[in-house]
Amino acid sequence: IHSILSRPDGGAGLAGQVVKIGGWVKTGREQGKGAFAFLELNDGSCPANLQVIVESGVHKLGDLVPTGTSVYVEGELKKPPEGTKQKIELKVLKVLDVGTVDAAKYPLPKTRLTLEFLRDFVHLRPRTNTVTTLINEAEKLEKELKENPAPSEADIVAAELLVKEKGEAVAQLKSAKASKEEISAAVAVLTKAKENLVKLQERFRLGNRCKLSAGIPKKDGKIDYSEDFFARQAFLTVSGQLQVETFACALSSVYTFGPTFRAEQSHTSRHLAEFWMVEPEIAFADLQDDMNCAEAYVKFLCQWLLDYSLADMEFMAAHIDKTCIDRLKMVASSNFYRITYTEAIAILEEVSKARKFENKVEWGIDLASEHERYLTEEKFKAPVIVYNYPKGIKAFYMKLNEDKKTVAAMDVLVPKVGELVGGSQREENYEVLRARILEMNLPLEPYEWYLDLRRYGTVKHSGFGLGFERMILFATGIENIRDVIPFPRYPGRADL
Ligand code: 4AD
Ligand code: MG
Repeated sequence: IHSILSRPDGGAGLAGQVVKIGGWVKTGREQGKGAFAFLELNDGSCPANLQVIVESGVHKLGDLVPTGTSVYVEGELKKPPEGTKQKIELKVLKVLDVGTVDAAKYPLPKTRLTLEFLRDFVHLRPRTNTVTTLINEAEKLEKELKENPAPSEADIVAAELLVKEKGEAVAQLKSAKASKEEISAAVAVLTKAKENLVKLQERFRLGNRCKLSAGIPKKDGKIDYSEDFFARQAFLTVSGQLQVETFACALSSVYTFGPTFRAEQSHTSRHLAEFWMVEPEIAFADLQDDMNCAEAYVKFLCQWLLDYSLADMEFMAAHIDKTCIDRLKMVASSNFYRITYTEAIAILEEVSKARKFENKVEWGIDLASEHERYLTEEKFKAPVIVYNYPKGIKAFYMKLNEDKKTVAAMDVLVPKVGELVGGSQREENYEVLRARILEMNLPLEPYEWYLDLRRYGTVKHSGFGLGFERMILFATGIENIRDVIPFPRYPGRADL
């Protein structure tokens, strides 16, 4: 919607184009005695809404108008009648998908909502303009911070000196009988320097973010939660996924990148207790879209390293792993193989007749590292995406396939490392998701907010997580993941 409405012509030049658009209804009303409905549609890309018109023959209008309803439509962009503010509107030809809302139960009232009120609905507040705008701004600022990292103290001292010298410089110019123009040019340069100094100082402050830690263990090692900072038991996250889904169900395509924690007893060269994960989450996307996105992303990263970081890669090739550049080239240019879990097991069963794996191969097992490496390094000699895993070994939120035995999950496996990416299509059906939570003996109460995303304007959506340190491991050929993160935490090591 942003790409349509932010054009200098307000989108007018797009009239006549047929497009597919997904979003959430901000306000909707039926008009002309039920002949058509007007929807103000928002997809989180900007605060502005796209005006959408649906005729009664196209869909049951009553299902589309409640605030919060999700719609995925195909329609023609049209010039609105004279006298309207908008320069373009969408006339719907086909409604491809709808996630309904029971208007009587929708938790967000239509009135202007305070930020305090919204704090009790953190999972739905991404659907408000203020929060959408805040998050879009935060993203721009974060990008700016990364591209122009915090300055050093030396930068600041140098800038301060420049500013201090302003008066002296002007006096010197005057005594040298410089022209008015020369003096004002010098003043302009120094004024700019002062502005830059303010910016540098500002950025320095932003660069030093503080960290909050929870729960201080007592001398006996126990943590007394009654005295704890949060006044309740709090946990470190294993993944940002469930939270980022709240944003995907409002801003459409989002990602999160942050530290995640696992207390698994995995004493391997590929597991850390704290690692960083990039997690995209895409609304209106199914498992195929998810696999396409993950494949394109991994290839992009490999090509980026070859294009912009070749000197580092050459260093690694010379000192650590001489095959690392070839491996990057291979992945950047290959089409990833895609096989179902069932096909993967058949391949592994066949080969295990002739050679021994340490871990038994049968339908229902989680693939072990040796299996992943066999598939990528020996069988296909390329990245492999394995999809449709048994539901018993995967998380409750993954979409149940029609066979009721497998879920729409996928792992991207690469040579050297094995699993680099894990992702899935999420179960968007309220009833099925609720049944899965119960089936897996999980309590419903902590997941009510997550179920709300399916109650109010649910959409098909998918996402994945890429382990950042595994990516570095893969790219550089370093043997142990503990060496690619500044402060590795693993069983027995968590001090520094
Ligand atoms: O497969 P995982 O567990 O998937 C998730 O957490 C999903 N919630 C992600 C999502 O769909 N948004 O983890 C994703 C990736 C793995 O493929 C692996 O690369 C990495 O995170 N990873 C680890 N890296 C280092 N140490 C560990 N203990 C890791 N566990 C997972
Ligand atoms: Mg996984």
